[in-house]
Amino acid sequence: MSEFKKTILCIGAGYVGGPTMAMIAAKCPNYKVHVVDLNEERIAAWQSDDLPIYEPGLLDTVKVARGRNLFFSTNVDAGIAEADIIFVSVNTPTKMFGRGAGKAADLQYWEKTARQIKRCATKDIIVVEKSTLPVRTAEAMERILREENDDFKVEVLSNPEFLAEGTAIRDLENPDRVLIGGRETPAGAQAIQDLVDVYEHWVDSDKILTTNTWSSELSKLVANAFLAQRVSSINTISALCEKTEANVKEVARAIGTDSRIGSRFLYASVGFGGSCFQKDILNLVYLCEHFGLPEVAAYWEQVVEVNNWQRTRFVNNMITSMFNTVVDKKIAIFGFAFKADTGDTRESPAFYAVKQLLEERANVVICDPQAIPNAQIDLAGVKGNISYEADPYKAAEGAAAIAIFTEWSDFKELDYQKIYDVMSHPAFMFDGRNIVDHQALYEIGFNVYPIGMSKKVHFTK
Ligand code: UDX
Ligand code: ADP
Repeated sequence: MSEFKKTILCIGAGYVGGPTMAMIAAKCPNYKVHVVDLNEERIAAWQSDDLPIYEPGLLDTVKVARGRNLFFSTNVDAGIAEADIIFVSVNTPTKMFGRGAGKAADLQYWEKTARQIKRCATKDIIVVEKSTLPVRTAEAMERILREENDDFKVEVLSNPEFLAEGTAIRDLENPDRVLIGGRETPAGAQAIQDLVDVYEHWVDSDKILTTNTWSSELSKLVANAFLAQRVSSINTISALCEKTEANVKEVARAIGTDSRIGSRFLYASVGFGGSCFQKDILNLVYLCEHFGLPEVAAYWEQVVEVNNWQRTRFVNNMITSMFNTVVDKKIAIFGFAFKADTGDTRESPAFYAVKQLLEERANVVICDPQAIPNAQIDLAGVKGNISYEADPYKAAEGAAAIAIFTEWSDFKELDYQKIYDVMSHPAFMFDGRNIVDHQALYEIGFNVYPIGMSKKVHFTK
């Protein structure tokens, strides 16, 4: 007889699976939590103190439970055989081939997992979709698992994860809500209750929302689409502010204090990145096209198009401002992660900017407190003069320009006089996150180009 009430398995030890399971294990000592992944290196890292992802507070949470009721391994088959509840948290990137290429979700890893579960399960199970998946994927999972299967019963639930990287532990510990979708049948209701029991160890019952499966799956796509839409909306206004005397920070504050609008996600930037926003919107677009709603598809697709435009606009502005050429000019890229407090570089605006600058034959040096290893992987096949330097003072030596792509607090606290002194002059600062003191930098001697507000330059036409 096991000392644990139930065994939870998570397939996929990535940015979502790893932190989520660490939190469940820390909060539910009476459940055994087993996290498996095909990637041996990743699992070895989860077993060490050098975790495979950078996330503030994660190591402490892992340490609470690791070896007690939290275990990591590569033995997926054995994990499935033992599990009562299986979270599927494998990657579902945008499909890059065949039908739906560039928009639909690539479900190959997910379907392989479904078949593996069917092959190895030995008792009745609940399968929980954690990865963001298109609407009605749970149904397909259920079909695969139920067909010609008299050996065990299965219920598939949708339980999307809303954590944001960089704040994963805070979001998991104190979520705005937990969403659980399931079938509207007695067996579906029981499965939902079994998962509610897990979350109720630390989340108030009134924050646990239960819906039908399709509402839950769709809500995840819609939440990300609405958030991304706010960023694209304020980014369009940043362009208008740069043409007028309005200041996007002042506009954001003025509209954000309207309680109907709210103040969050109104920071104009060099564009949104991350593994979710673009992928989920494109998924929504594909769904709308599939269901014969081209106007709805076009409406949401524009959010992604505006983001591409904002990214390119920023780099074009850099080139134009630097006298229309960056050939052989050293440009220090401050921040390669898609946001602060993560080493994740998926869909980072910095990646696209660096590619564009290399095409213009600039000499690019990348500086980031956490993301250099991922930047090196991302840029491995890209031709051009690229180097990496974790120390911002060294990265700026001889540089004609600094371009800030990530809002790391490290970059706010630098001695910019010292930096200015080692740069080539005229020195340019392109602040893609509006995080440095523009007036102070201008007074030091920089020509400063913020997002969505007037530039401060020393040139007279
Ligand atoms: C997002 C969702 O927030 C989360 O709920 C979901 O589970 C996964 O996708 P994440 O991608 O980790 O999380 O980051 P998020 O904080 O949402 O930021 C996404 C991008 O938008 C980042 O590149 C960020 O820098 C950018 N952003 C965000 C802005 O440019 N301006 C803002 O005001 C807010
Ligand atoms: P996310 O950001 O959604 O967590 P990641 O790419 O960080 O995505 O993590 C997904 C993980 O799933 C990867 O570590 C990958 O190796 C793992 N994975 C993919 N397919 C399988 C599979 N069939 N069995 C086990 N692990 C898998």
